[in-house]
Amino acid sequence: MYRSQTLALKYFSAAITLFGVMTITGLISAYYYLNPDFLLGILPFNIAKILHINTLVMWLLMGFMGSIYWFLPAELGRETAGIWAAEILFYVFCAAVAVVAVVFIFIQYGGSNEAALWFINQGRKYVEAPRWAALGIVVIMVVFAYNVIGTAIAARKTTGIITVLMIDLIPLILLYLIAFPAISNMSADLFWWWWLVHLWVEATWEVLIGCIMALALMQLLGTSRRIVETWLYIEVALVLGTGILGLGHHYFWIGTPNYWLTIGGFFSALEPLPLLGMVVHAVYDAGAQHMKTTNRPAFYWMMAEAFGNFIGAGVWGFMITLPQINLYAHGTQWTVSHGHFAFWGAYSCGVISVLYLVLQKTRNLAFVDGPLWKWSFAALNLGLVGMTGALLVSGFVQAFVERAIGGSTLNAFISGQENAWFVDGMVARFLLALVFTAGYVVLVWDVLTLGRRAPAVAAVAPAQ
Ligand code: HEM
Ligand code: HEM
Ligand SMILES: [Fe+2]
Repeated sequence: MYRSQTLALKYFSAAITLFGVMTITGLISAYYYLNPDFLLGILPFNIAKILHINTLVMWLLMGFMGSIYWFLPAELGRETAGIWAAEILFYVFCAAVAVVAVVFIFIQYGGSNEAALWFINQGRKYVEAPRWAALGIVVIMVVFAYNVIGTAIAARKTTGIITVLMIDLIPLILLYLIAFPAISNMSADLFWWWWLVHLWVEATWEVLIGCIMALALMQLLGTSRRIVETWLYIEVALVLGTGILGLGHHYFWIGTPNYWLTIGGFFSALEPLPLLGMVVHAVYDAGAQHMKTTNRPAFYWMMAEAFGNFIGAGVWGFMITLPQINLYAHGTQWTVSHGHFAFWGAYSCGVISVLYLVLQKTRNLAFVDGPLWKWSFAALNLGLVGMTGALLVSGFVQAFVERAIGGSTLNAFISGQENAWFVDGMVARFLLALVFTAGYVVLVWDVLTLGRRAPAVAAVAPAQ
């Protein structure tokens, strides 16, 4: 194994650990909706939610980095350039995440001054980490980009996928720099902050996961490079063609000029197209290879990624993206429903798929199958999709009762929150979250014991 691949394993361990922290903090966040006095005076809702969504971003980033550190040396036929720096920074990364989490939990708030921005919280949703940690992340990402680009230079070769990846890493890092400035004008601040959030998840991350899935498909199904790369180019062109101006769907109500209603509505409505393309691609490849694979969990998780990306991001996003509907759906649990489904489908399933591919190699397994992965696959997906259904019910109540009927007054807000359907949706979400959590536990169990349990499990060929 290359050193880069050993590092990949470490990144996957850290990612799956943070996935667990995200799940627990999600459960805590959800419980406040059932019992608002929960942890009163100890841990407020907003801190639990900050931990939830920041660990989400971090575990996905670590999963992506792990995937690239895994595939890169084999793809270019040499050790990753500057791997020693990446190895050191892995520990810096983990330590920084831990320190930031401890500060969030125990210090929670700072004054409205520069020191608080530097050491406690920068206050921008999804990228709340204080400046010192954000600086650290920039260093880690720059070294990561150097690892990829430097390897291609040293190898004096590249492939279509790696070229797309190298180009993608540049805007991905530049956009993160928006996590820094503290603009006092709220509209201007949100205007730029959406460049980071939207252009990460609907542009640069989509391209990144496209590259990772392309590399994974070749390993998983033996799909030819020509096919994978052709699809990748089509998808990238469509993602960038629709996603860049699709940014406008966040500019409807933050004080930007009216023309954003038209631009945002039109381009974001086209955003599901590339995601549909990815589904067609995945199904086409699976069919062309007669669904033959030696790694069933990786295969199923990859299919879940293709469909989840299309449905969660594409269909669920489409529902709320036209300004006429967004007026009512904006910032309700309907948005939360879409956010969960999209992040899960587009990214989490893909990272888990690659994790199983990695385990097949590192544990030296001819076949990967067995009962455990099926249980975790079922519980995680059932739990997550169920949660999005429950959130949708609560979100509809907010859109209809609070906004459309009640006219967004304070009274209407209260009657929305007290509506029986809203409350039931919150209870159902919590129960389904427990199913999801059980799925996580089984996933960890499977990952830790794969190939180390009864050898028969690993040795038996799956029924084709
Ligand atoms: C045990 C499972 C989970 C539970 C109980 C849970 C619960 C929650 C809760 C209560 C919130 C706050 C929503 C609000 O402000 O009202 C939230 C936000 C969020 N969660 Fe989860 N979550 C879980 C798993 C996940 C997973 C697996 C993902 C992604 C893969 C995810 C992504 C997000 C995102 C992106 C937000 C911010 C959404 C927004 O503010 O619009 N969560 N979650
Ligand atoms: C992988 C891709 C995607 C991910 C991970 C994702 C995730 C999210 C999240 C987490 C939010 C909540 C942001 C907040 O904190 O306020 C959000 C909002 C939104 N998303 Fe997506 N999304 C994706 C793709 C899409 C697509 C393709 C569309 C449209 C077709 C879309 C339409 C929207 C809209 C309109 C909002 C704003 C909702 C509101 O006004 O409250 N998203 N998305
Ligand atoms: Fe967006």
